[in-house]
Amino acid sequence: MKELLRQMTTEEKLGQLVMISPFFFTHHEQKQLTGPLVELGLTEDELYFVGSILGIGSPEEMIKVQEKYLKRSRLKIPLIFMADIIHGYQTIFPIPLALASSFNEELVETAAKIAAKEAASSGIGVSFSPMADLSRDPRWGRVMESFGEDPYLNYLFSAATTRGYQGKNIKEKGKIASCVKHFAAYGLAEAGKDYNTVDLSVYNLKQNFLSGYKGAIDAGAKMVMNSFNIFQGVPAVMNRYLLQNILRAELGFNGIIISDYNAVKETVAHGVSADFRAAAINSFTAGTDIEMASATYFKVLKELFDQNKLPLKLLDEAVLRVLNLKQELGLFENPYKDASTEDHNKIVMSDKHLAEALKVAHQSLVLLKNENHVLPLQQNAKIALFGPNSAEANLNGAWSWHGYRAVNKTLKESLEETNSLALIEDADYIVYFGGEKNSESGEAKSKTNLDFPEAQLKELVALRKYNKPIILLIAAGRPLILTEVEKLVDSIIYTWFLGTKSAAAIRETIFGLNNPSAKLPMSFPRNCGQIPIYYNHLPTGRPADGIDDSYRSAYLDSPNTPLYPFGYGLSYSQFKLKNITLDSAVIKPEQAINLSVEVCNCSERAGYEVVLIYLRDLVAQVSRPILEFKKFKKVFVNGKSSVNVNFQINQEDLVYYNSHGKLVLDEGEFELHVAQASNKIIKSFTINFLK
Ligand code: BGC
Repeated sequence: MKELLRQMTTEEKLGQLVMISPFFFTHHEQKQLTGPLVELGLTEDELYFVGSILGIGSPEEMIKVQEKYLKRSRLKIPLIFMADIIHGYQTIFPIPLALASSFNEELVETAAKIAAKEAASSGIGVSFSPMADLSRDPRWGRVMESFGEDPYLNYLFSAATTRGYQGKNIKEKGKIASCVKHFAAYGLAEAGKDYNTVDLSVYNLKQNFLSGYKGAIDAGAKMVMNSFNIFQGVPAVMNRYLLQNILRAELGFNGIIISDYNAVKETVAHGVSADFRAAAINSFTAGTDIEMASATYFKVLKELFDQNKLPLKLLDEAVLRVLNLKQELGLFENPYKDASTEDHNKIVMSDKHLAEALKVAHQSLVLLKNENHVLPLQQNAKIALFGPNSAEANLNGAWSWHGYRAVNKTLKESLEETNSLALIEDADYIVYFGGEKNSESGEAKSKTNLDFPEAQLKELVALRKYNKPIILLIAAGRPLILTEVEKLVDSIIYTWFLGTKSAAAIRETIFGLNNPSAKLPMSFPRNCGQIPIYYNHLPTGRPADGIDDSYRSAYLDSPNTPLYPFGYGLSYSQFKLKNITLDSAVIKPEQAINLSVEVCNCSERAGYEVVLIYLRDLVAQVSRPILEFKKFKKVFVNGKSSVNVNFQINQEDLVYYNSHGKLVLDEGEFELHVAQASNKIIKSFTINFLK
């Protein structure tokens, strides 16, 4: 690649750092270019310098654009096509927040693997995923794209997603590169308002917010997208501390850094670049390699390199990173990579992929309530079906551009295939499918009111008059406030948005062909005033459960606890954790201690249970969370049987960041908790770390 670099003019090099939409190539023939091209600031000739394309609709489109580009470009450096493949390409999997609820790394990896295979067949080389932004605020519409509030889950699932996309070698058929985003701490937008200010300490950044990105980077992610927000006053796209000190030096990332959409230019609106020229200089010199959807680098930096005002070395390094990725993907040998109409038609939405999507959906929906074991229903139960989502086919969730909705069934259609729906007077049960619409979560979908929709609440109040058990199904891209509605119904299944196989997954769960096994990756607040609410908060000097006086950290009008905590989720089986033993209460350097737990299924019905392990560091250099999620295992247990699970705890589990952002490990006492949810601790031990 160095030889190729030597042949390149400065203009050609800068072109590699520009990403634009395929529109500029495909719509040329229809003579629609003038407007957008003027906005981009590129002439038609300059289009043939650009290095990458954002989004592509089909293999035919990709092949056409690549062919056209290569015919006219001097050095024939292939374009690379990148897209947001967030939870599936056409076979849509549950939204990431639902995937996280599965507490199943293997399924998360499989979903990404299938997404990559389908996307690759249309010529996509990079997915802008995983979104590893730790999320504690359900007002933020993008929580649906995240793995929730816990740093450890974010680490694991971001890593699993990256492995799923990339496999061992991205050149292989069906593999694509992973671009983890949005670096950093985009999920902490103040008041849950998208693109808003972020302000957090370095110790919090390192302890909690970096974990997800680190997971993807450790798993070999080839790209990182930076975020729209500021960090310590400086937008991430031009934040040297974030990009150089943290991302390059501490996390050891050496791949491509790309801006988010138009973020370079937006530094002007942030009031830290005087104009687009300054924006380009600030972003490029801080370390953002590719500029998404604008071309300020191309327009302004050439002059600075020509006049030696900027070191050419910086440009060469950035361009080399882009060329290397193109080489790694094998684009120089075959610029179309896996793009093929024939393969696309065979691979996309294959029976195998749809079966996997159903399996993942089964494990992603959460049973929140099941009074008197109303669920599962007998196959011949007579159901009256209500609610706006029961006739809705599009329950794919946001970020599913390519999701092929025409094949999705509605719950009504799905139920009619196996049962005849009844009039309310004749029904044994009422099933009500409500919640949010598909379009109510995702980017720029912030809300101030998360109450379960009032009109739906009223309908449920009216339905109560029939005195029949009510099963409430809730589709949503975020935790909603269920405090009122929870009292009105017998059972609740939180379905999130489950993708292409939503209807089948829900129907099979209602009738017990699937036994729910998911747990919440985010706390469900009782009311909006509790937000942000998350399980791993710090203690306060005046805890609510402390001395009985009124000067405590509490609300006058609400308990402190959430309605449903992190890690909560029911099953149709009854699990008990028994015979919990620890082989030593002392951890020494390089020595692990072993914890053993018997998971007993006391019911007849087989199912999955998740055993959760938490730690609490009692005394440290900085205040430490009241609980920290450290490990888990999801196991399948037959009816009336037991399975043993083992965990190892070692010094790695005890480290933390102090207020200087330094990773430290202290001697002393820790609590070790074995739990079925963050509010359901079954057994606790005190352990000691001795150096
Ligand atoms: C989003 C990114 C996305 C990009 C490209 C932006 O608005 O923040 O997550 O990857 O658009 O579609």
